[in-house]
Amino acid sequence: MTYQEFYSQSLNNPEAFWKQQAQKLSWYKDPENILTKNDDGHYQWFEDGKLNLSYLCIDKHIEDGFGRQNAIIYDSPVTNSKEIITYNRLHKEVSKLAGALKEIGLKKGDTAIIYMPMIPQAVYSMLACARIGVIHSVVFGGFAPNELAIRIDDCKPRLILTASSGIEIDRILPYKPFVDEAIKLAEHKPSSVIIYQRHLGADTPGKPYDIDYVKAVSTATPADPVALESTHPSYILYTSGTTGKPKGIIRDSGGYATALKFSMKYIYGVEQGDVYWAASDVGWVVGHSYIVYGPLINRNTTILFEGKPVKTPDASTFWRIIEEYKVKVMFTAPTAIRAIKKEDPNGNFLKEYDISKLKYQFLAGERCDVSTLKWAEEKLKVPVIDHWWQTESGWPMLANMVGVELAKVKPGSATFPVCGYDIQILNDLGEVVPEGTEGFVVVKLPLPPGNLMNIWGNPERFVAGYLERFSGYYFSGDGGYKDKDGYVYITGRVDDVINVAGHRLSTAEMEEVVASHASVAECAVIGIHDDLKGQIPLALAVTKFGNEIAESVIQDEVVQNIRKKIGAVASLKQVIIVDRLPKTRSGKILRKLLRSIADNEPFTIPSTIDDPLIIDEITHKLKTHKVGKH
Ligand code: COA
Ligand code: AMP
Repeated sequence: MTYQEFYSQSLNNPEAFWKQQAQKLSWYKDPENILTKNDDGHYQWFEDGKLNLSYLCIDKHIEDGFGRQNAIIYDSPVTNSKEIITYNRLHKEVSKLAGALKEIGLKKGDTAIIYMPMIPQAVYSMLACARIGVIHSVVFGGFAPNELAIRIDDCKPRLILTASSGIEIDRILPYKPFVDEAIKLAEHKPSSVIIYQRHLGADTPGKPYDIDYVKAVSTATPADPVALESTHPSYILYTSGTTGKPKGIIRDSGGYATALKFSMKYIYGVEQGDVYWAASDVGWVVGHSYIVYGPLINRNTTILFEGKPVKTPDASTFWRIIEEYKVKVMFTAPTAIRAIKKEDPNGNFLKEYDISKLKYQFLAGERCDVSTLKWAEEKLKVPVIDHWWQTESGWPMLANMVGVELAKVKPGSATFPVCGYDIQILNDLGEVVPEGTEGFVVVKLPLPPGNLMNIWGNPERFVAGYLERFSGYYFSGDGGYKDKDGYVYITGRVDDVINVAGHRLSTAEMEEVVASHASVAECAVIGIHDDLKGQIPLALAVTKFGNEIAESVIQDEVVQNIRKKIGAVASLKQVIIVDRLPKTRSGKILRKLLRSIADNEPFTIPSTIDDPLIIDEITHKLKTHKVGKH
């Protein structure tokens, strides 16, 4: 079947299409009500079906006779260790941990936060929660205790699962003390913290709520998976929005499993038993969908990589892993390729490895610039596939569906809408724009299975943020256009969310931190171009009248505040003190204009600007500080 035929089927009769895909999973109760609306009027998939993600990821494959197949390959250049975990072993680890969670008192519907580095125990923790219906919320290790505390207060976990420490290249990060600090900061107090001791030299004194991971698991009675409603939330994953507060995206169970199973074959082109590697982190949606649930549901071998594309130990690591484990399909962010290209522009390392098993290289998480795509194509000699999606969707929305039909790659485009996604480009009035015209990227409702169900504890924000802007459509927050052949090009966020090294961050949240400095009267944080990370944040701050503190002191303190309150991952390194910020006559800061000035791009001065002279002042300041493309 051609892509066009398959895609048309999915839009013409979504219920029949997704029912057929859902039948590829083992349900405790097959769904009969395929697409319905819930009490709040939002679409839901497979509402009367029952299943369990942990069962689908583990037990099912053992029942089918594949217990001895490798489920996870843990490769950790930062600790110089490797470990192979078969499906049998995964079963043992997960069912024991699930038993331990039950013994602590956790039950279906409770929430648990997982704050762990890229170690097998992070995956066991996710699957153990899923096994007994506990809703997990994994928090990326690069976030500071304050960010963790915000998430603790929002999802009110009964329990936190953590490890003693993580490692960033060669630096030990004290995860457990971060958790202790977060608990101190949070109003909600989880009753227990399960801590996996890594013995890396960052051991800390115990707290009354501590439970040792190994001890708890060793005495626990293994727990079987429980049948859960398709609409039971499998997890909450926080992501950055346009306000200072992150939003907890809620994922269902049945729709998610169906979508992931579908995507492994038809988008990524992998068959059961193949080795699949997503070089991301379990703290991001890519980690949830394509390190853990997707490949395991599809009985692939997934690689859990605790390292970086460079410096662990060098730019050859990715190629070593592809050769060593015979990776068939790999997924990473363009930033990672740029980092490798920077260290090894001629791809000399590649000559030392046999990567002939690699069939496709997928990229996502940020816009893929043409030179990175071309470099990867030339060096890897396989199709390099840019595809587009977000935390909210949980799986790709635009892709070259190589498992159906490999379309011609057009650099700069994430190719076509994936089955189930009716993607349109609208103007401000909600009208479809002509080909080649940039507009807002939206998806006509209903969204296919796997997409967000709601926002945890904030259903109003779900409606206001995604559904209200264009009636009958889901609003992605991205801008883009379609060409005459139907290829879709994503041009970037149309809101104040930025993408730093494939990490999604909110400038509004950073502005709150910058503005909290005692000497700052007002500020703007914008995302500016960066050759390596795609975007990096830049803060422009106006100091309070009569301020006597040196600019350099304020700048350093603001940078430290961001690291402390949000985390190193925010990568805010530059703070420029300006006399004024460009504003409209009604007082709104013209951030888009600031971005264009910083990136040295052409711009038109908005007629609403209160004082056009300010543009020269800001340009001069950025030039003096060699900021952005100046
Ligand atoms: N735990 C704690 N700290 C973390 C962290 C983690 N899991 N991940 C990153 N950080 C810290 C880093 O140590 C760094 O701190 P520093 O400023 O003190 O050096 C900071 O956050 C920024 O990290 P990062 O954005 O990773 O920048 P980098 O300069 O260390 O590395 C790259 C650059 C390109 C190698 C790296 O960003 C990378 O591997 N990118 C791929 C991105 C990716 O896979 N994204 C997933 C989406 S698909
Ligand atoms: P996240 O929710 O962290 O996965 O970030 C999602 C956002 O990253 C999207 O809304 C886009 O702005 C951006 N993004 C992800 N993939 C791509 C891509 N292939 N091309 C352009 N932007 C992308």
